[in-house]
Amino acid sequence: MNKELILEKTKAFVKDKLYGESSGHDWFHIERVYNLSTYLCEKEEADSFIVEMTALLHDIDDWKFSEGNETVTTTTENYLKSVDVDIKSINKIIKIIKTMSFKGGVVNSIQDSIEGKIVQDADRLDAIGAIGIARTFAYSGSENRLMYDPSIKPLDFKTLDDVKNKDNHTVNHFYEKLLKLKDLMNTDTAKHIAEERHRFMELFLDEFYYEWNFNKKSL
Ligand code: NI
Repeated sequence: MNKELILEKTKAFVKDKLYGESSGHDWFHIERVYNLSTYLCEKEEADSFIVEMTALLHDIDDWKFSEGNETVTTTTENYLKSVDVDIKSINKIIKIIKTMSFKGGVVNSIQDSIEGKIVQDADRLDAIGAIGIARTFAYSGSENRLMYDPSIKPLDFKTLDDVKNKDNHTVNHFYEKLLKLKDLMNTDTAKHIAEERHRFMELFLDEFYYEWNFNKKSL
């Protein structure tokens, strides 16, 4: 198994597949998660091939694109077989991807391998901070969601159907997910980076409400 060659092929495959994707899971998201993952990987004892491959492939079968079927990883599996990744590595990569996403915190997404912890941290770091804010509004736009409605309070998700409810506005997403991610980081390095990004989101929300309520009159 020529790992270098497989990684090169995988970058080209993912770039081609996700380049124009506009809901926040585009190629540049993958590139950022890949870069964050390799950074975190340097600080841990982990298998860098598994980390890099998982970072590159983690959104190819994203549950939001698979009509809500979060267990489907067919495209990723077929791809890994087509480039002759050994079965042990395929199983590791698929296992991480299947349990990676937050899904409103209603399903178990605990990673038992260090490689899984790293890529999950990287994906979560890219969901917060300035980039996280931008991605959140971009994704909501693609779902025709309202930016904000002060009368609709954040939900306490109980089931996956609650998470998929489209009648929610974007600012609630900060309370339902983004502001919770800081405390869900696995590695110390990611915790540290998350602190700063978290603070930036709090500042953003303060300013948002300040501008929203400026000289407020109800019409
Ligand atoms: Ni992702």
